[in-house]
Amino acid sequence: MNIISTLIFFSLCWPLAKCQTHCSEWGWFGQGCKYRCHCENNNCNDTSGQCLNNAKCARGWFGLTCQYQDLATILSATVTTNPRQTEDWLTDRNDDNCNRYSKLNSIGVAWNSPQRFSWLKIVFKHATNYASMNDISLTFTTSGGYDIQCQNKQSSFVDTNAMVTRCHQREEVTGLKITGAGVSSMCSLYISGGRNVALRQQTNQTSTYGKATSFKAVDGNTNNDFHGGSCSHTAVNSNIIPRWTLNFDYPVIVNRILIYNRWDSCCRDRLKNFNLKTFDERYQSVDDINNDNSELEV
Ligand SMILES: *[C@@H]1O[C@H](CO)[C@@H](O)[C@H](O)[C@H]1NC(C)=O
Ligand SMILES: *[C@@H]1O[C@H](CO)[C@@H](O)[C@H](O)[C@H]1NC(C)=O
Repeated sequence: MNIISTLIFFSLCWPLAKCQTHCSEWGWFGQGCKYRCHCENNNCNDTSGQCLNNAKCARGWFGLTCQYQDLATILSATVTTNPRQTEDWLTDRNDDNCNRYSKLNSIGVAWNSPQRFSWLKIVFKHATNYASMNDISLTFTTSGGYDIQCQNKQSSFVDTNAMVTRCHQREEVTGLKITGAGVSSMCSLYISGGRNVALRQQTNQTSTYGKATSFKAVDGNTNNDFHGGSCSHTAVNSNIIPRWTLNFDYPVIVNRILIYNRWDSCCRDRLKNFNLKTFDERYQSVDDINNDNSELEV
């Protein structure tokens, strides 16, 4: 943004309580263009993020403006029904397309890599009674290979026919089985994989190697070939201990931190034996994690 457009931006926004910004950059929306569009065909209103022309969320995404990853429809997920029949009504992201088989008694989801579960949303047929919606059991298969029930289960109704259920699972899971009387009334299943709260937030680092600014780590591009130009890197011959920092626009609850190390032929061992700290609003330490000596693969 050059100086003239900055001035225009401020003079337009100053008198308004809530500024709405248009994003000229395709595929992003919202204030400061910090939100990634996840509608089908990237077809978003560049201000509000709503999907245009009745487009649905792209496969693998759900929720308000499609900001949450959907672990029920990511590529590594397989959904099955018992007795076996087609299950596309469940994962087509159309809440009006529902199960029609009255004997349906369970739904299974299996992932080919371990996932961290926090909550899911089930949409039922209209006029399903609360007792049936509540009669839903969740059993997880842990990556260790044994079954556990949903821990400290909390369910709430977010609509007359939708329920959100949270489980406090400590272990990563590779499978989920849904049973109970409510199963035969289901229309949609969404399993939250969270949203990326780091995206385009304010970052800094102690020094910068070439064009590899700190912001490249939160630009939404996970290409981990350094020469692709979307990785951050501090200067090589700096005599201070290198540090990369991120400040959120507003306080967030973080339950997973995913770091993509560079993975080209050179230097992946530079990101090892590091210290990761998080802080609250008063700058008190929340987590303090030491990476051991291993290189980070993700
Ligand atoms: C996009 O959203 C804004 C804000 O909600 C609204 O004023 C505008 O009419 C919408 N544009 C389109 C093309 O839907
Ligand atoms: C970013 O880091 C550099 C180097 O440590 C520092 O001089 C600068 O003040 C920092 N900028 C902000 C906005 O914190």
